[in-house]
Amino acid sequence: MFFSKNKDFKVDDRLKHIAFIMDGNGRWAKARSLPRNVGHKYGAKAFENTVKNCHEIGIKIVTVYAFSTENWSRPEKEVKAIMELLDDYIERAHEQKDIRYVFIGDKSVLSVDLREKMIKLEESTKNYDNILNIAFNYGGRAEIVSACNALISEGKIAITEDDISSHLFTSHCIDPDLIVRTANEERISNFLLWQCAYSEFYFTEVLWPDFDKKELIKAVKSFYKRKRRYGGLIKGEE
Ligand code: IPE
Ligand code: IPE
Ligand code: MG
Repeated sequence: MFFSKNKDFKVDDRLKHIAFIMDGNGRWAKARSLPRNVGHKYGAKAFENTVKNCHEIGIKIVTVYAFSTENWSRPEKEVKAIMELLDDYIERAHEQKDIRYVFIGDKSVLSVDLREKMIKLEESTKNYDNILNIAFNYGGRAEIVSACNALISEGKIAITEDDISSHLFTSHCIDPDLIVRTANEERISNFLLWQCAYSEFYFTEVLWPDFDKKELIKAVKSFYKRKRRYGGLIKGEE
């Protein structure tokens, strides 16, 4: 890690994977007397900037929570607007081919058109090193259940932790080192339940559309102050 000015800030090997629970779009819009959908539009801009900023400071894997399995309970108009934002984003993502895109979540209930676009983007970017996982129609419990069902259908009668990990949507990457949640909520909301076992957490009051590079660096600096013990002891603390 290299501090000097924020402009030159770079992470080291301790922070390979960062995940974001992008919360607060609705409150951001409400504070401006705007419809919730406008909040999602600005949230999408913050998402694109954050992905760019993460890669700029050297974080190789970024995961974002964009739409949960529970978010279907929102008004139809809002759900439709979020689907359209994803559609627009995929169109643009095709032009910027230096990231491997992976959609984590259940694609099967999405529109055929959107699903095909997601798969096409995944296929055409699969050889890039920097990873962006977009959790869309994602639920952590559903993910674990589906991994177990896949293992049952393979005929397994006893399973290991590695069996489960290798059947999750995130089997292509390591667990998140840091999970950031915005908008003053301190809960996991069914995100990466298995993968967060030893993640560090950072919560901020900042609403997602206002999350910028300065806020990202604050989160990262907080991460570097943590002592990750994994149940053991750190040298010098014995
Ligand atoms: C996060 O913002 C985006 C999604 C969950 C899709 P919210 O829409 O949850 O914003 P708040 O929590 O209502 O402010
Ligand atoms: C979590 O935010 C899901 C996403 C950010 C996509 P929510 O706003 O849906 O979470 P709750 O309802 O406050 O737990
Ligand atoms: Mg919310």
